[in-house]
Amino acid sequence: MYTIHIEDSNGVMHNLNFEPNTTQNLMVFIADTLAEEIGDCRGRAWCGTCMIQLMDGDYTSEKIGDEQLILNQFPDIPNTRLACQVFLSVGLHNTTWKVLDSRQFI
Ligand code: FES
Repeated sequence: MYTIHIEDSNGVMHNLNFEPNTTQNLMVFIADTLAEEIGDCRGRAWCGTCMIQLMDGDYTSEKIGDEQLILNQFPDIPNTRLACQVFLSVGLHNTTWKVLDSRQFI
């Protein structure tokens, strides 16, 4: 069992256990587990509503598709990813993320 720490959009921290690859991606995991209303484009890297920020821990994976184009719209916010472009993988173990939702910055 692996653990990921996620601060939800209300500022509440959750320590969540997960099994790798049991959801389509991290966006679906967050939406299902925390009932966050994110993922308007359903994982196409178009909407940015699933934007998250790495607060602690190490995580890297290649940014694919249009993810970087969306993230480039928020150059002042470091360590961001689109959760829909992050697989629910072992590499997320013991990382801490904050749900940002790009709509709050527009
Ligand atoms: S769900 Fe739209 S960008 Fe991730």
